[in-house]
Amino acid sequence: MDAAGMRGDVTMAGQLESLRELAPGLSIWRVRHGHWHKGDDWEAVVTTTMVQARGEVALLDPIAPTEQEGADAVWRRLDRSPPTMVVILKADHVRDADLFARRYGARVFGPGLYWRDDLPTVPVQQIYPGMELPGGMMALSDGRWGQETPLWLPDHRTLVFADALTERRERLRVWSTPWDEEGPLRTLRSLLRLPFDRVIISHGEPVHDRGAYIQALDAPPWTTPALREWARQVQPYRELLGLGPWWVDEDD
Ligand SMILES: [Fe+2]
Repeated sequence: MDAAGMRGDVTMAGQLESLRELAPGLSIWRVRHGHWHKGDDWEAVVTTTMVQARGEVALLDPIAPTEQEGADAVWRRLDRSPPTMVVILKADHVRDADLFARRYGARVFGPGLYWRDDLPTVPVQQIYPGMELPGGMMALSDGRWGQETPLWLPDHRTLVFADALTERRERLRVWSTPWDEEGPLRTLRSLLRLPFDRVIISHGEPVHDRGAYIQALDAPPWTTPALREWARQVQPYRELLGLGPWWVDEDD
């Protein structure tokens, strides 16, 4: 990227760690996240997905790589096939949507509500589960009261998630929510009706297969001490609804 490409933009741009082509028209790159702090329950390096389908070039939850050795490969690829759209899968994954929208004139799709300290400044067309986006992509439900809208990429038989799943200790895991573990698991299990062979996630090793997704649904969701404390706070609610005790993670 030339310096002018970032000038005037507030960017989260980070150091490029890797660029991988997964299939014709489907690539990912991984960048160090500018807001990561030691002790966060996620790795500093996060994933951006780039997909070309039906005449569209879409960036999903993109973070720009900073100028450095190797990053040129990303910018050359982008300049060769300019993005036509950016999709924000989750309100706290706005990342560099503005930068890419301005640099390439790409349309932006995403949630209807945002955090006040992380607002996109370009117009955003709201997406919702079941909506078909340009390129044939379909927005899905995550079963977590709309925390994110995962995407199904039918031409690449791929699901792309923001935070509904993560990878820990070389295993794909559902990232737990302390209110109703059944709802998300039921919704995520229903996605098995879609033809897909590949799962891409933002946090942790990014690429998994369908078998790993099935194993993730059968394993206890990934929890942390902070999430378990949250669960303790809402235990009366869980008892009122007959939800039973909170998951005990076998890894702890
Ligand atoms: Fe995230």
